[in-house]
Amino acid sequence: MSKQFIVPRGTSDILPDVVPLWEELESKARKICKSYGYREIRTPIFEETALFKRSLGQTSDIVNKQLLYVTSQMPESLAKASASSNDESMFMYEHALRPEATASVVRSYIENSLLGVGTRSLSKLFYIGPMFRGERPQKGRLRQFHQIGVEAIGPNSTSPFLDAEVIALAMHLLKEFGVKEPKLKINSLGSKEDKVNISIWLRTGEFSKHKNDLCEDCQSRFERNVFRVLDCKKEGCRKIVSMFVKNLPLSTESQNYFHQVQSALKSIGIAFEVSPHLVRGLDYYTHTVFEITAEGLGSQDAVGAGGRYNGLVHDLGGKEKIDYGAVGFALGIERILLSHGHEIPWQEPDIFIIAMKEEYQQNAFLLVQQLRREGIGSDMNYDNLSFKTQLNHANKMNVYYVLILGEDEIKNNTVALKDMQAGTQVTVELKNIVSILKDKVSEVRKLRRVARN
Ligand code: HAM
Repeated sequence: MSKQFIVPRGTSDILPDVVPLWEELESKARKICKSYGYREIRTPIFEETALFKRSLGQTSDIVNKQLLYVTSQMPESLAKASASSNDESMFMYEHALRPEATASVVRSYIENSLLGVGTRSLSKLFYIGPMFRGERPQKGRLRQFHQIGVEAIGPNSTSPFLDAEVIALAMHLLKEFGVKEPKLKINSLGSKEDKVNISIWLRTGEFSKHKNDLCEDCQSRFERNVFRVLDCKKEGCRKIVSMFVKNLPLSTESQNYFHQVQSALKSIGIAFEVSPHLVRGLDYYTHTVFEITAEGLGSQDAVGAGGRYNGLVHDLGGKEKIDYGAVGFALGIERILLSHGHEIPWQEPDIFIIAMKEEYQQNAFLLVQQLRREGIGSDMNYDNLSFKTQLNHANKMNVYYVLILGEDEIKNNTVALKDMQAGTQVTVELKNIVSILKDKVSEVRKLRRVARN
């Protein structure tokens, strides 16, 4: 027997039953993001590895352990073809699948000199798509997962209201997606200079005396990226960190900024907890960082996270003279779906057509295509099945109406219209069926929408 293939570890097929849920989530996301003034951007799913190294940080777990590379190895035949067609560029550099999209969006912002609409300064962008991390898979942790994210980037866009807007948008989306009681934690890492000072303070001050009491991972983090010690979940480390974390040397300016973000959030009724342990695993953050968790997800309970990254545009080649500001977040779609359980929305099509005899299939086929062209989702069975089997099939599809073509209907140019909910049946003229169904289907869709919400 031939080898049977299975989906790669840490990835999954999004099967037809679940796709409607994704579609609904994505269309809600697009609508809401646009209503906040964000425009969609689609960047490639792989980039130069160096882009991720420079933005996420050489010492971050993502760069160190989780990048999935697009290799430069290719079959000999392809190598020859590409050499002769001068098309080697794709293979000359080392590329990696994107582990997140912030770096790509900033790269594109700089490369395309993207400016925002109207204001000409702030560029508000959103994206929806797959990300890739070579992590050890577990519940809620995949190697290919999907994010809905936004990035607001621009010269002088350093208003605390923008941090609050971005957080409000994340919370708004989660509410619309049906995530129950999402919890928001925020913190400030301070400016780039503050981060350097904090790092020196931790490495050389009192805290350093406890280095040997930290867990093994934290001892190596202490050298590589001491910030990551602050969010270690291990009891021992947490105890030590707790003694210092509230006194980190944050400049007055940064403290004021953080207070302004908090006031802006309070003014629009967004509840949050200030968590000094929250530092995030990516190097690019400055000032505000945040994380949103939800119930029922086990250890991987973050449904979204983000923060400010004012220095990244310069780090990736933005114009020297411009003082850029940037803030954004990403929500994990799989975790959102996990958090409220899979609930399948309505099934299309709305109509099923039954031909009572094989010879009526041509008439049914004409009708099904006519309805589809008119935007009425319809289906039929092309096998010569009994009426009962076809009706069962229609029942399983959860359609509201069945159209039946029998001997009388064919003879009289009519069709029997069966209401599957009410169990009633009427005969209607074929020439009127489209207009009758259009009214009925729009009514049914309204009812289904109400039932779901
Ligand atoms: P992140 O915290 O790495 O941030 O990811 C954001 C969200 O993506 C997480 O809260 C989680 O819901 C989801 N996620 C991350 N890794 C996985 C995984 N292996 N499996 C399933 N879901 C996962 C970022 O990606 C930043 N780019 C967010 C950002 C945008 N910051 C500023 N702008």
